[in-house]
Amino acid sequence: MTPHAHGHQHSHTHHAHSSTTEPDWAALAAHLERDAELKVSFLEDAAAWLHDLFGHRQVTRVLDLGSGPGVTTTALAHAFPGAETVAVDSTPGLLERARARAEREGLASRITIRQAELPADLPELGTAELIWTSNVVHHLGDQRAALESFAAALRPGGVLAVREGGLPTRFLPRDIGIGRPGLQARLDAAEEEWFAAMRAELPDHTHTVEDWPALLVAAGLAPTGSRTFLTDLSAPLDPVARAHVRARVERFRESLADSLSEEDCATLDALLDDTSADGILRRPDVFYLTATTVHTAVRT
Ligand SMILES: C[S@@+](CC[C@H](N)C(=O)[O-])C[C@H]1O[C@@H](n2cnc3c(N)ncnc32)[C@H](O)[C@@H]1O
Repeated sequence: MTPHAHGHQHSHTHHAHSSTTEPDWAALAAHLERDAELKVSFLEDAAAWLHDLFGHRQVTRVLDLGSGPGVTTTALAHAFPGAETVAVDSTPGLLERARARAEREGLASRITIRQAELPADLPELGTAELIWTSNVVHHLGDQRAALESFAAALRPGGVLAVREGGLPTRFLPRDIGIGRPGLQARLDAAEEEWFAAMRAELPDHTHTVEDWPALLVAAGLAPTGSRTFLTDLSAPLDPVARAHVRARVERFRESLADSLSEEDCATLDALLDDTSADGILRRPDVFYLTATTVHTAVRT
């Protein structure tokens, strides 16, 4: 998925590319899936909040727009057991992962997989009481128009939940004993630049002020609040989370090298040295900390 530096959003990680074109989602499949798995427990709290928003209103259909590998799709299906949940994405390889996950979790009969290009194919997807979309809108050229079309697919009383914003993921202390302190802040800044360049190249790119509640109002909805959920895996990390952080550092090294100083590139190389005590795989101080924001609004 992307810039995680973002004073705006992206807690995901699509900086896998040295160019500024859209991420190669299929190539990022394993990384996306692990990233979502590390954070998915936030969905328990988010789902409890969504249940409160619905009150006694029934939820019979849920759309997960830009579901990726389906980690949130299955979590939503568990959270709304009376609903059919639909994973919608443009990348077949990710939908295949979503399908396999649904089967593994015994949810195959309640989860439908739909390949679709957003927002163009939305009218073919039908309507739903809950539309969830996580880290997807900022990959669409006209974010305002996309939210309007998502809102149009809501049934009366339905809720649109848009996961955007939050805080960039942090995984190292400010001073790590090698290189210049503050590496992560500089990675975040470089990633912001990458992200802006990537967005500028999207089809139908339109400049949008990313005031998410205001955009939801512009889409004809009534905001019902924004909440932020913390994912806080403290050091020492388990091997799975540690491998994920290492993959992330590798992506930074590949995609941001042109924007970083030689010293910072050398620090990244040291972090990627698996034989060294300074490397991500062996150093004791690696953690995983991020904040995920969800903005909600209801169709009255
Ligand atoms: C950053 S990932 C987010 C995946 C998942 N929602 C999550 O939060 O873990 C973005 C997803 O949006 C999908 N996507 C990007 N542009 C799309 C489009 N125009 N139509 C449909 N899906 C799209 C990608 O295939 C990818 O799965």
